[in-house]
Amino acid sequence: MFQTIHHPLIADELTRLRDPACPSPEFRQRVRRIASLMVPAVTTDLETDVVPCNTPLEITSGEKLARNIILVPVLRAGLAFLDGFLDLIPQASVAHIGLARNEKTLLPESYYMKHPPTLTGCEIIILDPMLATGGSAVEAVRKLRDAGARSLRFACMVAAPEGVATLSAAFPELPIFAAALDRCLNERGFILPGLGDAGDRMFGTGI
Ligand code: PRP
Repeated sequence: MFQTIHHPLIADELTRLRDPACPSPEFRQRVRRIASLMVPAVTTDLETDVVPCNTPLEITSGEKLARNIILVPVLRAGLAFLDGFLDLIPQASVAHIGLARNEKTLLPESYYMKHPPTLTGCEIIILDPMLATGGSAVEAVRKLRDAGARSLRFACMVAAPEGVATLSAAFPELPIFAAALDRCLNERGFILPGLGDAGDRMFGTGI
């Protein structure tokens, strides 16, 4: 269940973001804005409960989200993406997953996980700007499922077809959202045309 979110504001931000001349502070801000612009599409089917709603004049009926939302940024690059989601869903809890892709094997290596005690019954949104081989995303979903998560979705900024195929094959029911579907991966597992290493560009750790 893969969906690309087309929007002129997202496309404009992403085009400026891809430019290697975009410095880290601007890069973080643009990632954050893209994330916020994606929130309505990523959350459009969340269930609500009908509840009584007081107004200054009378009682009517309103709606409240039926389930708690847990946002899960994949460290490090997921952090700026998280900020954009938290801007619009400030009541969400946050679970962190630390995964670093081994540059030789391209396999994810896990180094951290901290989540609320209960994941079952919550809406889990995994956040990582980049879906390349899909290894990190598959590992993140596995870890969350092992910890009890049942209702999950995955949101990224730039996806490679290879990553979408791998993640969809591993979890056919998982909704996957991206702001852009790029062409392919290169021999080093980088997305083309892509934007380089999102974590390094975000935090100024590149060469
Ligand atoms: C990048 C990116 C994803 C992952 C995607 O992170 O932010 O998490 O690689 O690659 P994959 O789909 O092939 O697994 P990286 O491991 O470089 O860590 P970082 O965010 O700390 O830079």
